[in-house]
Order: sequence, then C-alpha cells, then structure tokens
Amino acid sequence: MRMPRLRFITPARLKELGIVGMNMRNVRLISENNPRRLFPLVDDKLKTKVMAEAAGIPVPRLLGVVRVQQQVRELVPFLSGQPDFVIKPANGSGGKGILVITGREGEGFVKSDGMVISRADLHRHTSNILSGLFSLGGRADVAMLEERIIFSDVFDGFSFQGVPDIRVIVYKGYPVMAMARLSTVNSRGKANLHQGAVGTGVDIGTGCALLSIQHGTPLKTHPDTGKRLADLVIPEWADCLALASRCHEMTGLGYLGVDIVLDKHRGPVILELNARPGLAIQMANGTGLMVRLAAIDALDQPHESVAERVAFSQASFRSQ
Ligand SMILES: Nc1ncnc2c1ncn2[C@@H]1O[C@H](COP(=O)(O)OP(=O)(O)O)[C@@H](O)[C@H]1O
Ligand SMILES: [Mg+2]
Repeated sequence: MRMPRLRFITPARLKELGIVGMNMRNVRLISENNPRRLFPLVDDKLKTKVMAEAAGIPVPRLLGVVRVQQQVRELVPFLSGQPDFVIKPANGSGGKGILVITGREGEGFVKSDGMVISRADLHRHTSNILSGLFSLGGRADVAMLEERIIFSDVFDGFSFQGVPDIRVIVYKGYPVMAMARLSTVNSRGKANLHQGAVGTGVDIGTGCALLSIQHGTPLKTHPDTGKRLADLVIPEWADCLALASRCHEMTGLGYLGVDIVLDKHRGPVILELNARPGLAIQMANGTGLMVRLAAIDALDQPHESVAERVAFSQASFRSQ
C-alpha cells in the first residue's frame, strides 16, 4: 500500500501551495457564494434534516424534538423502546452539547466513552440545551433526538469510541477537497478537530488517505489505536461525492462543507452541513484550495448534472 511522505508544512510553504486563509474565505468564498438568508437552513440542524428528507437525501432518523422544559420529564418514557440514541442542540456546533448514548445499564444511560449517567443527568443536559448553553450566541434552542449511527467496519481502528465523519468541501456544486475526521480519546468520541479529532485528507480522485493532522500537528498513526492512518480507504467514494454535490442544489449554497457518515447498513448519510467550513482540511491534504477553486471558476460552461461534476472533480483533483 502507498504511503504518503509526511512532512511539516511551514506557513511560507502553505502560501506557495495556494492555501486559502481566513480573510479570503470570509470575504470571497462565503460572502460571494452564500447568501445570508440561506444560513439558517444549515445552521439549524432541524431545518437541514427536514429539507434533506424532502429532497430524498439520507440523514440520521429524527426520533423526536424536545422544545420546552415541561417536555424534559417525558423524555425517558418516550425513549423506553430505544436503547441507543443521540441528543443534540439544533443550533450547536463544534461537537458541543452532543450526547451519544450507546445503551442502558440498569436505570442509567451508557455514553460513547463508557461512562454511565443517570436520568437526572440526562434531564439536566437536555434542559441546558433548551436554555441555549450550547447554541450560537446563547439563544434558546431545541433538543433533537436522533437515531445513533453505527458506523461502517472500514473505520475499525481508525476511530476511537465515536463516529468518524467525512467532510467534503463543495464549491459551486463540485466536490473540491475532502478529509476524514476520526475521533480519539482526546475528542471524547466526537469527530470535531477542535475537540482533538484526527483529520486525514482524502484524495478526491480515489478515496485514499493523504496526510493526517491532530491539533495542527502531522501524525502517522492513530494516537489511541496505533493504526496506520495512510491505510484508510473510503468505500463507495463516488457515491459520497455525489451525495455531497447534491447538497449544492438542495441548499443553494456555493461554498459548503458537507459532513457524511458511513452507516453500517444504510451507506453514506448526511450528518450536517456547514456554510463556513474550516480551513484545516488544506493541511490534511498538503495543498491549498486556491488552484481547485480557480479551475472551477475558469470553466466556460459548468456541468449540469451531479454525475458530470463528480467525474470532473475526480479527474481534475487527484492527488496521486
Ligand atoms: N446520530 C449520531 N450518531 C452517532 N454519533 C453522532 C451522531 N450525531 C453526531 N454524532 C457525533 O458527534 C459529532 C458532531 O455532530 P454534528 O451533528 O456534526 O454536530 P456539530 O455541529 O456540533 O459538529 C459527529 O461528528 C459524531 O462524531
Ligand atoms: Mg459536525
């Protein structure tokens, strides 16, 4: 199996590689391609889910929504037939406030890290979500109850105690760059880089791993399992890219981060969408977004169908 050479990339080298910085992302990519009125569609996970279901795009099933404090005490009876589930703030981000329950132990609820919490803890957590503890600007929120994703075996050893996701950046409907985000002990089962997850670049052409980073530092093996990160290959890769690409039509957003999880039984499903995706993906790919965005801007006639756009991206943005 091919092994990419891992090297430390200096800021000067990043510039040379056409790395998009924060300013360019905010001024050019986001404000020129993403009309503000469309932000709520992706900032609110409940709205995203409703929209995706209407468009026939697979998402984790919604079990219910807790909207007011009085409903909190109905939670446990409501979930009586559901051993595992996820509670998350509809307007959360960065993995904050997400509780993944993998099963029951007596009256208690087992979290993805194996810790057991009580009914009172579950109630408190849900009340905290409603009061806006995890939402943007501390605004009151609603708590979504979602089915727990059981992730595909291909991630065995590549992700520790949590669901890994695949972030695809989609520009004007074309998938331009991708990264797998692998959970670690440090990220407490979340696939969010700021929480300490590993980011592994994924070749748009092939679905094979490129470079890996954790907290901005390169690494070769998963910190908890020792598994060689370069060996990761994402299956059903063209399907993942097509799913990501479809989210352009669905949302109307020109610059979009699409988070996909590979469900063991259902295949690729959309976990969430992001109108302001982070830039660390470039580090995990060892290259910048600039050249790829320019290639799309330079097209005389953009491709109309999802299949054509995916084929163009796979042929044009191959790393090896
Ligand atoms: N339904 C789910 N099943 C299992 N794990 C989940 C589920 N929803 C979220 N997670 C875990 O929490 C992380 C963050 O969830 P996400 O919905 O992307 O919210 P955020 O906006 O906070 O990133 C995911 O990457 C995954 O690791
Ligand atoms: Mg996320």
